[in-house]
Amino acid sequence: MDQNHEQINSTKNALEPHVLIFPLPFQGPVNCALKLAELLCLSGIQVTFLNTDHIHRPLLQHTQVLARFNSYPNFKFETVPDGVEHEKPVSGDRFMEVMEAVDRVSKPLFREMMVSGKFSSRSERPVTLMIPDGCFSFAVEIAKETSIPVICFDTVSPCCLWTCYLNLPTLIEAGDVPFKGDDLDQLIASVPGTENVMRRRDLASFCRTDDISNDPVIELIVKEARSVPQADGLIINTFEELDSLVLPHMRKLCPNVYPIGPLHSLHKARLMPKTTTPSPEATFTNSVWKEDRTCLLWLDKHAPKSVLYVSIGSLATMSVHQLLEIWYGVVNSGNPFLWVRRPGSITGEYDESMVPSELLARTKEIGCIVDWAPQEDVLGHPAVGGFLTHSGWNSTIESIVEGVPMICWPYFVDQQVNSRFVEEVWKIGVDMKDTCDRLIVEKAVRDVMDVKRDVFAKSADTWKILAEESISETGSSSRSVARLIDDIKAMSNAKK
Ligand code: UDX
Repeated sequence: MDQNHEQINSTKNALEPHVLIFPLPFQGPVNCALKLAELLCLSGIQVTFLNTDHIHRPLLQHTQVLARFNSYPNFKFETVPDGVEHEKPVSGDRFMEVMEAVDRVSKPLFREMMVSGKFSSRSERPVTLMIPDGCFSFAVEIAKETSIPVICFDTVSPCCLWTCYLNLPTLIEAGDVPFKGDDLDQLIASVPGTENVMRRRDLASFCRTDDISNDPVIELIVKEARSVPQADGLIINTFEELDSLVLPHMRKLCPNVYPIGPLHSLHKARLMPKTTTPSPEATFTNSVWKEDRTCLLWLDKHAPKSVLYVSIGSLATMSVHQLLEIWYGVVNSGNPFLWVRRPGSITGEYDESMVPSELLARTKEIGCIVDWAPQEDVLGHPAVGGFLTHSGWNSTIESIVEGVPMICWPYFVDQQVNSRFVEEVWKIGVDMKDTCDRLIVEKAVRDVMDVKRDVFAKSADTWKILAEESISETGSSSRSVARLIDDIKAMSNAKK
């Protein structure tokens, strides 16, 4: 019997806590939540993982999650309909469509499941604690109604969670949102901790609104700002040093914060050594697109730190004009590049006949384009020297872990904040927000890959080391996870 099963069986007859995890139905949050689920399972905690149908289908299609979690007798998937009709995962422009469908269809069903105790029918105990995404304020409400302890898991960046989510009511009250006038470079003084860092242009994309009273995203975030502090705890994917600017302030509002990041490395450190499968990386993926692992062979052929990796994550899109500007900038920088072009990520009419032949010819020589890459492995590959990213939080923290400097081209939500922190706070890259011009792109790539490479490499290495330390046995994130597990057990027993 392996160590996992021994651990699980030793607690089998004890009164097991039974945690319900309910992530937002998008790639990033589901990926993080599955990693957390696996860590909890290893500690003998019973986990029910609730996905909405829309995200569960592609997850089963492209991963080995069912086989992987089959080895945990204390884990089960449940699904809830969400009324989203698209067969494939949707892009960011449909974010609110999904959220509205979840609110309309999943929320009442979820309430019914919780009130009727449906989750207990196939398990030894009813749900003793809920871990919903922080965005699901209705889940916090239902937890309170049913007297179930609740710990929110917010997978957006903590720097944005603090400045633009938890402080959105403050920003509105101070008159900072909506903006008055059009000076996007004005500093934001109303948010404690980031007074010298954040300009209007660095606030989350939803802050660029004219009409806060009729904006569904503002309404959603204001609800989240009210509900998260009412939860019994808040899990975030960061480590103490990385977010030292905001964490002391966040703790004044939400005293029980668990910074358990970088979650993907902590997960890897705990899980990977135990696996005996020939290709552990492929087994561990939670990607809702099919990964093209051949790009790793392409990377093998390149010199250390010579390749630029380009990806805009799972939700961002770009127009044909933006595609061509970035493409020219990248090609003109002269660096070999690996570019992920997620199906559906280019908006409007597009086909290769619209691309100048010189660009295609040069791409054949120095580029590799794939639909979806095994990103963690790509960023960890010695050939990768820079990352042109949309600054999604997972991409950012994955890059930090590998010490890869970034060129940031943020698209929406927390990405505007993340790109500012990358340039101004962590000093590990260049922020290109609000621009899309081939000359600017070329300069940014040259700066990161060549001209200022040593400066960026120095700070990137420092953060890489701090990230590693945080997940070591005595590191701050390891201690946070241990405390989280103890607290789940204590809160569950108090619930009995
Ligand atoms: C969304 C929001 O856009 C982001 O700002 C927020 O922080 C989380 O939700 P997303 O577009 O999914 O993020 O970007 P990101 O958070 O960076 O996550 C993308 C994930 O997909 C990463 O874990 C990355 O490793 C993975 N990925 C991306 C791949 O595995 N292969 C790829 O080719 C591209």
